[in-house]
Amino acid sequence: MLKIASLELENPLICAPLAGVTNLPFRLMAKRHGCGLVCSEMISANGLIHSSQKTLDLLRSLPQERPLSIQIFGADPGIMADAARMVADYGADLVDINFGCSVKKVLKSGSGSALMADLPKAEKILKEVRRAISLPFTIKMRSGWDRSGDEAMALAKIAQDAGVDALALHPRTAKQGFSGISDWSLIRRVKQEVSIPVIGNGDVVRPEQVLEMMEQTGCDGVMIGRAVLHAPWIFRQALSLLNGGDLEEVDLNARKKVLWDYFDDTVDYMGEEHACRVMRSRLAWFVKGLPNAAQFRASTTRIASREQARGLIEDYFATLEEQEEEYLPVLA
Ligand SMILES: Cc1cc2nc3c(=O)[nH]c(=O)nc-3n(C[C@H](O)[C@H](O)[C@H](O)COP(=O)(O)O)c2cc1C
Repeated sequence: MLKIASLELENPLICAPLAGVTNLPFRLMAKRHGCGLVCSEMISANGLIHSSQKTLDLLRSLPQERPLSIQIFGADPGIMADAARMVADYGADLVDINFGCSVKKVLKSGSGSALMADLPKAEKILKEVRRAISLPFTIKMRSGWDRSGDEAMALAKIAQDAGVDALALHPRTAKQGFSGISDWSLIRRVKQEVSIPVIGNGDVVRPEQVLEMMEQTGCDGVMIGRAVLHAPWIFRQALSLLNGGDLEEVDLNARKKVLWDYFDDTVDYMGEEHACRVMRSRLAWFVKGLPNAAQFRASTTRIASREQARGLIEDYFATLEEQEEEYLPVLA
């Protein structure tokens, strides 16, 4: 169990915020597979306070995905405080601030990991947001601008002193993007520096690695990002291991259901026509490593209706069932 201020999570596994991915349907999928907390993608504080419809759409939620963390980004302390207030009013369970994004546009605006190079500004933002909301409040950061991790350690202490309730660390530098490997020793270090809960993140792609990260770093929770794109069941598998059980295999029926449910939820969220366009590239995410995945991917690029999508999924899995002997080792 992981407790973030007053919020008690069912388990310490968190689905990472992924821009352009972790919308409501994706979060519902992660939740169905057992994660203890889902996060919105990063939402612009400026977009929120100007109430742009596109931005407000990102706040849509359903009770069955709760608890929900909404992540905001921005560089102006007053605007960030107003945005945090709005997020709280919309019913989020937790507000998170992005100190990790290193895409050019975000850095240019002085937000995301640019704030790790301007700790006085970061501190102002944290204090104003803390004053604005009583909800549990977290931050997500990278290691900083060089490999030492000193900026992350400094920001962690500033955050704790400002009243932040927990922090997540993805220990890659801002310059690294997603290259190299994340330096878990920095998660261990930050855990020793602060007393608030620390959530480790970075390069967990197999369920066993959840336990490894916890053992190696002492972190209180584990956040998983890219692996969920291909294997949302990683949460359930890791939970089984955390509870002393065995690694649960995922059979073909369960995989097929993932595709169906995600497709149906996306239709409910954005309408059939839009959902078909969006899902053309997404359905194949979940068959990675299975036989004829490339053929399936090619077939889904033409999806124009829910019925057609169902047919393609059904046909693909029927061919897999016929070759059961061959694919079983892939699933193990
Ligand atoms: C496509 C994509 C979008 C991302 N969007 C966000 C975001 O909106 N907010 C954020 O804090 N991190 C974002 N991240 C970083 C992830 O949350 C996570 O820190 C990173 O992927 C490392 O974890 P992983 O190795 O488990 O993927 C994004 C990463 C990817 C690959």
